[in-house]
Amino acid sequence: MKILAIETSCDDTGIAILDARKSGKSSHCLHMMANAIQSQPIHTNYGGVFPMMAKREHGKNIVPVFEKALKDAGLYKLKIKNEKLKIDEVKIKKILSRENDLSETFINSISKIAKPKIDAIAVTVGPGLEPALWVGISFAKALSLAWDLPLLPVNHMEGHILSILMTDEGKIPEIQFPALSLLVSGGHTELVLMKDFGKYKVIGQTRDDAAGEAFDKVARMLSLPYPGGPEISKLAAGHRKNSNTSTSPALAGTPQEENIIKLPRPMIHSGDFDFSFSGLKTAVLYLLRDLGDINDEQKKEIACEVEDSIVEVLTYKTIKAIEKYKIQTLIVGGGVSANTHLQKILREKVGLKIKNEKLKIKVYFPTKKLSTDNGLMIAITGYFNYIKKPTKKSPPLSKLKANGNLGF
Ligand code: KG4
Ligand code: ZN
Repeated sequence: MKILAIETSCDDTGIAILDARKSGKSSHCLHMMANAIQSQPIHTNYGGVFPMMAKREHGKNIVPVFEKALKDAGLYKLKIKNEKLKIDEVKIKKILSRENDLSETFINSISKIAKPKIDAIAVTVGPGLEPALWVGISFAKALSLAWDLPLLPVNHMEGHILSILMTDEGKIPEIQFPALSLLVSGGHTELVLMKDFGKYKVIGQTRDDAAGEAFDKVARMLSLPYPGGPEISKLAAGHRKNSNTSTSPALAGTPQEENIIKLPRPMIHSGDFDFSFSGLKTAVLYLLRDLGDINDEQKKEIACEVEDSIVEVLTYKTIKAIEKYKIQTLIVGGGVSANTHLQKILREKVGLKIKNEKLKIKVYFPTKKLSTDNGLMIAITGYFNYIKKPTKKSPPLSKLKANGNLGF
């Protein structure tokens, strides 16, 4: 089946088209036809995402991104001249009434495009910023009405987990259960125990800021643009290149940099699987106040120590959870999973490649393009949820709502 998926939970407008089919009794073939994404540079200088600003940008971007996805997939065909326009403009205008000018651009677009061979529409319904989510949901409802297609509501965080199923080689990785998912994004930091696909239990989460949020907030303090994670990571790598290595006490045997600047590893020995990153941000605030003017080297060192702190806490708690629940596979997802230092340390400490240690399991990260928000992970999740219950009818349009705090 071909699924068109829509993602607008934060500041990326993503529309993807996935061709997915069964290739055996329990094996599947996933083919990405399109994965169009438009980010919102408007947030760069604000250090974070303002929901109403994100909503407005999604409203402007969603139709061009939709058309790009259709073109990339080879599914963009104009209607022949005398083909009858069958869309119910009144209903569509009502569905899109909360989205400013979107009804006009939507109707213009949909009136000229011939309905392609698509079987269902998947859409993120939460968690995320509600005004932003609503743009995608309203768009999905309007499209479902215009093209008479079923709607598949998708949980964004499940999307981050299943994003690892699409690999560059095209082979779906084999997941052995129980599996553990470390979800690290701008809004979430969670350890999720997976008994099977669709069977999730959150065993730990952040009590305040998410890991990505900590990167973003520290970046802002260091006058770096949003999103801060990649910026901090670049500076940290620069510092590591020039410095000696020693051993991290919490992750015995893991070479770490001998930073003169020391920041806390919040809640590392709390004995549970929860996290807290707001103290780290405050520690950086006080540090910067005490240091006064800092030079480029100090900036790099602070970035390195922040990244070490976040990676160390995430890795330590992940290892503890792997031991406790006898985990067979580790899945890492969300924007922060693109962090190369996190990847390196987790692979070193948990990955299959190192011999002679008992804690060696399969570790999967999404490809770089699929680590941050995108439509393809929503399409993949929509597909697997659909084939689990293929007869299930899509919920009535009026039932489909944004839920900013949607859990597993
Ligand atoms: O999953 P995502 O795209 O959006 C949410 O669902 O929140 O994650 C965005 C977050 C941002 O906080 C960003 O700074 C962080 O992911 N991020 C990174 C890296 N790339 C993105 N954090 C650390 N290192 C990176 N390379
Ligand atoms: Zn996300």
